Amino acid sequence: MKNPFTYSNFVTGPSFCNRIKEQRELLEFITASQNVLLYSHRRTGKSSLIKQVFQNIKEQKLDIGTLYIDLYGTTSEKEFITRVFQQLNALESNTNKLLNLLKNSINKFSFQLSIDPTTSSPTIAPSFKAADENLILKNLMELLAKFSEKRKIVIAFDEFQEVAKYTNADLFEKQLRSYVQQHSNICYIFSGSQQHLLTAMFESQKKAFYQQAASFPLKEIETKHYILWMKKMFKRGNFSIENDNLKQIVEQFQNHPMYIQLFCFFLWRELRQTPWNAATINKIERSMIEQKHLEYQILWDNLSLNQKKTLKLVLLNDGQNLFFAEALITVNIKTASMVTRCFKSWSEK
Ligand SMILES: Nc1ncnc2c1ncn2[C@@H]1O[C@H](COP(=O)(O)OP(=O)(O)OP(=O)(O)O)[C@@H](O)[C@H]1O
Ligand SMILES: [Mg+2]
Repeated sequence: MKNPFTYSNFVTGPSFCNRIKEQRELLEFITASQNVLLYSHRRTGKSSLIKQVFQNIKEQKLDIGTLYIDLYGTTSEKEFITRVFQQLNALESNTNKLLNLLKNSINKFSFQLSIDPTTSSPTIAPSFKAADENLILKNLMELLAKFSEKRKIVIAFDEFQEVAKYTNADLFEKQLRSYVQQHSNICYIFSGSQQHLLTAMFESQKKAFYQQAASFPLKEIETKHYILWMKKMFKRGNFSIENDNLKQIVEQFQNHPMYIQLFCFFLWRELRQTPWNAATINKIERSMIEQKHLEYQILWDNLSLNQKKTLKLVLLNDGQNLFFAEALITVNIKTASMVTRCFKSWSEK
C-alpha cells in the first residue's frame, strides 16, 4: 500500500481531512455569487479547500462552472490575463467550440494554441502583439460575463496578493474591480496567504478592492476531526494507533495541516519497520528536522545578529513575555523596540 500522506501539494478526496463546515460555507457563498476573500497563514489548506469544493461541484453535478487560476509567480497584468486564458477550457472543454467562441467575441487580436505539457490538454494564450492589454482584459471579462449568462460561474484567483506587486497595480486593481462589480452571476474567490498584503488590498479605503469581498479566514482543523481522519488513513496500512497518541501528534504541531501530513508521512514509513513505542514521536520529529536541516540553516544564516537574538528570545521564552527586561537581558538585546522591528520585518517577509 502506497503511503497515503502528502505534504507538498494540495489535497482532495480521502487525503482531505474534514473541513465540512468550511466546504458548506464556501459553497453557500458561491451559490449566492458573493465574492470571498479566503486567507490564512501559509500552508493551512486554502488551495486544497478550493479544489475540494470545486470537485464537490463536479461530483454533485451542480450547474456551476469552475475556474481555478493560480497567480503565483505572475509579475504583470499580461501574465495575469494569460493565466486566465490558459484555464478557459475548464469552462468549455471542447477546444473547437472555445476557439469559435473566442473568435466571435474577441476579433481584434489573435491567439496561440498549445498543449500544456503537464495535463496534455490544449491551452490558449492571447497574442499581445496585435492589441493592448486593456482591450484584451476588457474582452476577456466580457467573455466571462457571457459564459455566466448560461450558468453560474465561480472563479478562484489563488495567490491574489501577487497582483499588488505588479508595476501598475493600482490601475489594474481598479480596472479589475470595475469588471468584477458588473458580474452578478460570478462568484470571485480571492485567496492568498500574505495576510498584511491582502488586508491592505481589501481593507484600506484607498484601495480598489475595499470591502469587495466577504472575509473568510481559514482556521486550523479541529483535533477531533484529525483523530478520526488519521485513524482511517492508517487503517489502510493495517496500522492501529491509540487515540491519545494521535491527539499528542496533533497537539505537537498545533493542528497545522501541512506539518501533520508531513509527520504522518514519516510515521507511516516508520511503522512499516517498527511498531509504535514511547520514542516514536521524538524519533520522527528528529527526522523531519534533519530532512529540512539545510533550509533551516540557510534561514538562520540570512538573519541579522539582532534577528538571531530575537529568535532565541522567542524560543527561550516559549513566545511569552518577550518585552520583559529580564527576558531581553538573557539574549543581550538592549531595547524592546529592536524586538518590535524584527517582528515587523519578519511579518512583511
Ligand atoms: N483538509 C486537509 N486535510 C489534510 N491535510 C491538509 C488539508 N488541507 C491542507 N492540508 C495539508 O497542507 C498542505 C498545504 O495545503 P495547501 O497547499 O492547500 O495550503 P495553502 O494554504 O494553499 O498553502 P500556501 O499558503 O502555500 O498557498 C497540503 O499539502 C496538505 O499536506
Ligand atoms: Mg495555496
